[in-house]
Amino acid sequence: MRNRKVYLSLNNNFYLYLYMKKVTIFLLLFAFYTTNAQQFSVIPKPAEWRIDSGSLEVNAKTGIFLQDKSFAKEAAYLQMMLKDQFGLSVKILPKLGTKNAIVLGKLEGKRADQYYIKTNQNNIYIHGTTNAGVFYGIQTIFQIFEKNGNGYKFPNLFIADAPRFAYRGMHLDVGRHFQPVSFIKKYLDYMAMYKYNTFHWHLTEDQGWRIEIKKYPKLTSVGAWRNGTIVGRYPGTDNDNKKYGGFYTQEQIKEIVQYAAERNITVIPEIELPGHSSAAIAAYPELSCFPKEPTKIPNQFIADASKNNSGKLVQETWGVFEDVFCPSEYTFKFLEDVFDEVLQLFPGKLIHIGGDECPKEAWKKSALCQQMIKEKGLKDEHGLQSYFIQRIEKYLNSKGRNIIGWDEILEGGLAPNAAVMSWRGEEGGIEAAKQHHTVVMTPGSHCYLDHSQSKNEDSVTIGSFLPVEKVYDYEPIPKSLTEEEAKYIIGAQGNVWTEYMKYPSKIEYMIFPRMLALSEVLWSPKEGKSWAEFEPRLLEHMKQLKQKRIKVSDAMFDYKVEVLPALENEGILLKVIPKFSTDTIIVARNKSDYSKQESISIDGENYKEPILINKSDTLFTCLVKNLESPVYRNHIFNFNKATGKKIILSKVASKAYPGNGGAFGLVNGMQSEKGIQSSEWLGFAEGKDAEIVLDLGSVQEISKVKVHTLNQQGSWIYLPEYIEVFASNDGINFGPGAKSAGLDADKMGMQYMYLNLTPIKTQYLKIVVKNFGVIPSGKPGASHGAWLFLDELIVE
Ligand code: ACM
Repeated sequence: MRNRKVYLSLNNNFYLYLYMKKVTIFLLLFAFYTTNAQQFSVIPKPAEWRIDSGSLEVNAKTGIFLQDKSFAKEAAYLQMMLKDQFGLSVKILPKLGTKNAIVLGKLEGKRADQYYIKTNQNNIYIHGTTNAGVFYGIQTIFQIFEKNGNGYKFPNLFIADAPRFAYRGMHLDVGRHFQPVSFIKKYLDYMAMYKYNTFHWHLTEDQGWRIEIKKYPKLTSVGAWRNGTIVGRYPGTDNDNKKYGGFYTQEQIKEIVQYAAERNITVIPEIELPGHSSAAIAAYPELSCFPKEPTKIPNQFIADASKNNSGKLVQETWGVFEDVFCPSEYTFKFLEDVFDEVLQLFPGKLIHIGGDECPKEAWKKSALCQQMIKEKGLKDEHGLQSYFIQRIEKYLNSKGRNIIGWDEILEGGLAPNAAVMSWRGEEGGIEAAKQHHTVVMTPGSHCYLDHSQSKNEDSVTIGSFLPVEKVYDYEPIPKSLTEEEAKYIIGAQGNVWTEYMKYPSKIEYMIFPRMLALSEVLWSPKEGKSWAEFEPRLLEHMKQLKQKRIKVSDAMFDYKVEVLPALENEGILLKVIPKFSTDTIIVARNKSDYSKQESISIDGENYKEPILINKSDTLFTCLVKNLESPVYRNHIFNFNKATGKKIILSKVASKAYPGNGGAFGLVNGMQSEKGIQSSEWLGFAEGKDAEIVLDLGSVQEISKVKVHTLNQQGSWIYLPEYIEVFASNDGINFGPGAKSAGLDADKMGMQYMYLNLTPIKTQYLKIVVKNFGVIPSGKPGASHGAWLFLDELIVE
């Protein structure tokens, strides 16, 4: 009857959990109506606010009144949203009555885009210094409406608000994966909800040119299409060999720019130069310094060998490519023509010209480039890149526009009026601000929303780890700047590179909830910023976004699973650490659906103490809070003679890849099942070997030693050269070693390296895992020491 008993205990806890939730809601409501200190769930948090007693109604009888005719566009937006999002058809009123109106008016204030909201005589007043100010007030009221019968309730309140930073950006790469106009509009709606005002639209890439240019039709007839895409994480396991692409017509672009303007969002187009230009070169090979040289694509990326030597190609894999724009007169004329059309479509002051990741190999080999360096008295190829950017800058300045570029544009000298987007950390931004250039901060560490949000990420991402808490923690003004220099930091931006985001749902999953955290960094006063205060508001927004069927990552609910050694070599202990003290985590031997209570059949227990595991087993853990869609994690334990035993590493693994529990992670019975995206890996950097000493606890017969390792050369991770095993019965004096053979270096992914032994009796083993050494030329990371990755040591 064990199952029965556990089933009841689960239910009891479950109802206790719901009861606690009710109590919490009651307490929150109580606080809401009795004290002004209670926060409502507005994101980003307004600068100042006060909730008074009483409330008014917003319903089908509500009207919109324009105290100032300059807000007609905002009134139309408000009317449209009340209908679409709130189901209320409201009229624009010819005159103001005593109640039931949302009044839009002018505020005489000093700060840009400032607004206030106040309730008075049963009307809601939104006054702003600018159109954007009124628009932000409208966004704020949407977040306060509370459903009430057929209409909404709105508390009496006062809000005074203004943005902290003038530039609040979200970026989207449509080069790697193209997105339809309908999704771009959704993206702009998401930005508007959270008071972003700049959409950085990354329109050209190695893998696709996405903007129609009438003078150069091949940019889209050729450059917008690739003949395949790598499968899986770079360097990929295959190529799908499917034609892929798409582009925006100029009419569609106008429609999007207009849609953005209605939401007070400026669109900054990015036309990448001189690097990341393979798609343009595939369309017009003369843009390359070597027009006749076919595009080099490493063999492993091409399933269909006929693609090699077939001229210039739109790239089918990710990364950085050597064939870049040649700084020839042909190229400059081409770019000026392209910009002539781009400027017609995008009225904003800033034009993004890329400038990042431009290898100089082609320019080093090109007679034309070398001649230019000499004639123009430039120092080197970096000087030539600086010349390239400055020439484009001059052209765009002559048309009344300014350029913005990635921080590489600092190398070889910054163009006189250029703004800098700091992505390789903050150093570029700091340097530019010191030179009195405008800066947008977008460091990988805090602003790259393509990085993983979870250490248990199930889908492929570019890697690294950027949880929502870290985004919220970001401070865009570096401490090293003076007050005067800090003024050049106009804001920050979330970047969304889409190598691993093919569909809109994946983009939503990657931006939500992190773009909410960044919106508060950019909008709300720095003083009073607190994760503890933000978190309940964030949870409420995540719930509402999900109700709108928007994909949201639940990574912030991640609980930690630790595996510890049990006493006396008895096995291992599984310990689960919840993120929130109110969380209940179920540890079970069978998966079950918590929404169907009666179907629960559980052979585990509500987790209380670490669970002892002493044989191969599979357990499931599940967070009960997430009832709508319980997410299970499985934990597979493979027991062998090393599992749970004492282990020492002569040198600890790299801080970046410390493993799950350090050295013990090598004998915790668990190994990665999804490649690099696992906290199980111990990484040994820069050519370092791993040297392990294992105490089996008693003398045992052994015949095989294996390590589980990874070959991912695109990330500089190589298979070991060999493993060498030494035996000892005192742990001090080891006998002569026996070496394994190597593995096939061209086979990527996770694999075992092993050594078969004539059976020997021993208590201690020393295992040296030999690092591959220096990465050969022609490979990513050439001349650096390779990484060695291990996640399990197996002794049989
Ligand atoms: C970049 O992430 N290459 C700007």
